[in-house]
Amino acid sequence: MSRCQEPKVALKGKFVSFEGGDGAGKSTQISLLSRSLTDIGISPVLTREPGGTRLSEEIRQWILHEPDAIDPVTEVLLIFAARAQHTVEVIVPALEDGRWVLCDRFTDASYAYQGGGRGLPFEVIESLEAVATRGLRPDLTIFLDLSVEEGVRRSGGRGSSRDRFEAEELEFKHRVRSTYQEFARKNPERIKSVDASESIEEVHAQVKSLMHHCLGVSID
Ligand code: TMP
Repeated sequence: MSRCQEPKVALKGKFVSFEGGDGAGKSTQISLLSRSLTDIGISPVLTREPGGTRLSEEIRQWILHEPDAIDPVTEVLLIFAARAQHTVEVIVPALEDGRWVLCDRFTDASYAYQGGGRGLPFEVIESLEAVATRGLRPDLTIFLDLSVEEGVRRSGGRGSSRDRFEAEELEFKHRVRSTYQEFARKNPERIKSVDASESIEEVHAQVKSLMHHCLGVSID
């Protein structure tokens, strides 16, 4: 489908994204939710950003591991290039087919990291969003909120394999977190905050309850 066309068919599937800082437990919660959904006969597409297609995974390597400094504008353009390809190649076709898509991060991450973290104006990100995804937003975004200090402690074991964002100073991570919190306050219907300092089981229980209350799907 060309980027200039509207989707041919209504998007029948559900699009759920997970957001949060380092160590918040997104991957664990996505795999638990995927298992719970599969148990009730919904087999979701699991994907991530930046990434999700061959080209977008290549771009991910540059964004996370380029050893030289990347200009913030270059960074945001690369992220949206990856997102445009991922949207058209994976997310929209799956939703058109009626599949559920569980995505590890989506455009909210660009507002938090490139906007809040790097200081790019939100208007720049809004314009790129309009072109790259034509404003496609998840039906539900689960923001796993965790203090920066606890997130760093939990992901500390990654040591020298830290990526460019994990290696950022604490101030950057605080700006990212407060941007996510601001977005959650401004979009209470779509973005739901979950206290990620709770146990894995408790967070999973809250995620399942959100599936019920926000998307009408009862698990258990
Ligand atoms: P993750 O797969 O561990 O979440 O790592 C992806 C990193 O990429 C994470 O540190 C945040 C960063 N990122 C952005 O800066 N902007 C974005 O739009 C996305 C999707 C990710």
